[in-house]
Amino acid sequence: MQSFETLSKQFAERFETRHFPEQPDSLYAPNEYFLKLGGKRIRPVLCLMGNELFDEIIPDTWHAATAIELFHNFTLIHDDIMDKAPLRRGKQTIHTKYNESTALLAGDVMMVKAYEYLNKIPANYLNKVLTIFNRTAVEVCEGQQLDMDYESREDVNMNDYLRMIGLKTSVALAASLKIGALLGGAGERNQNLLYEFGKKLGIAFQVQDDYLDAFGDGSKTGKQVGGDILANKKTFLLIHAKESPSHKKELDRLMKTNAADKVEKVLAVYNDCKTGEWALELTNKYFNEALNHLDDIAVLSKRKEPLKEVALFLVKRDH
Ligand code: IPE
Ligand code: IPE
Ligand code: MG
Ligand code: MG
Ligand code: MG
Repeated sequence: MQSFETLSKQFAERFETRHFPEQPDSLYAPNEYFLKLGGKRIRPVLCLMGNELFDEIIPDTWHAATAIELFHNFTLIHDDIMDKAPLRRGKQTIHTKYNESTALLAGDVMMVKAYEYLNKIPANYLNKVLTIFNRTAVEVCEGQQLDMDYESREDVNMNDYLRMIGLKTSVALAASLKIGALLGGAGERNQNLLYEFGKKLGIAFQVQDDYLDAFGDGSKTGKQVGGDILANKKTFLLIHAKESPSHKKELDRLMKTNAADKVEKVLAVYNDCKTGEWALELTNKYFNEALNHLDDIAVLSKRKEPLKEVALFLVKRDH
């Protein structure tokens, strides 16, 4: 059983090669630029771990892991356009460095590249893997659309938020694990338990992402601090803070402004409501629920250690 560190290094060694042709450079250079910025490689490692949970890593799993990471990067390129994000992984986003049309096409071609890697999976598994992958891709789009719809809505509640992040983020983590397990010959029950583990973990992961967007250190997250506040994203921070009527009034007012001190003012309200403490409660809740699903998987508990380690990292991370 290998640790997150070992597996992400191994994955990086294979992944960090040129994935696109030379020409047209105006399309492919942005993609190569983006992939070189790295990232935590969480999803491919989850896929590999989901596989190794049941036996030694099956070589075809590397193709699936590569497809998953490419797909993830595609979603980020388009997400950054949608979120008007200037920075990603400490560097300029593609639409900022190049332009929006390039970023759209760079994302499109990245997604097709993901399918090229999927197509390397042997025929006896391909159909099942594609079914999971495609359902996940559709759900990510649905979640991303809800995320955008919510920007201009004032009545988004916790359930709406949890449903939205379940779709835009959790399913990708869950599917990565399940595809790994499927290729590792796991039975359906174990596959599904791993999927549920990933769904709960994914919620905790996005909660932490939303927390870091407001309270993180930009030099660590590599993103613009307060980007969610500027975009009027309906994160749990905002939803929770609005539960108090006086804070609600102030936040509703702030959401309508574009004042230079908008982020600062909203953060002051968040601090006043102790939303940081609440974030911790929320991540812990979903982290523990995730671990319960992992406990139910019928393999020796020793084999589950790397997944527990990764789960802890995902909720405690600062980047
Ligand atoms: C960012 O994902 C998008 C979310 C779903 C929150 P990651 O935080 O995994 O991004 P990288 O790949 O490590 O940069
Ligand atoms: C993005 O969520 C989810 C997907 C890319 C599908 P966010 O918009 O919160 O991710 P970051 O913060 O930009 O990485
Ligand atoms: Mg974003
Ligand atoms: Mg987004
Ligand atoms: Mg975010």
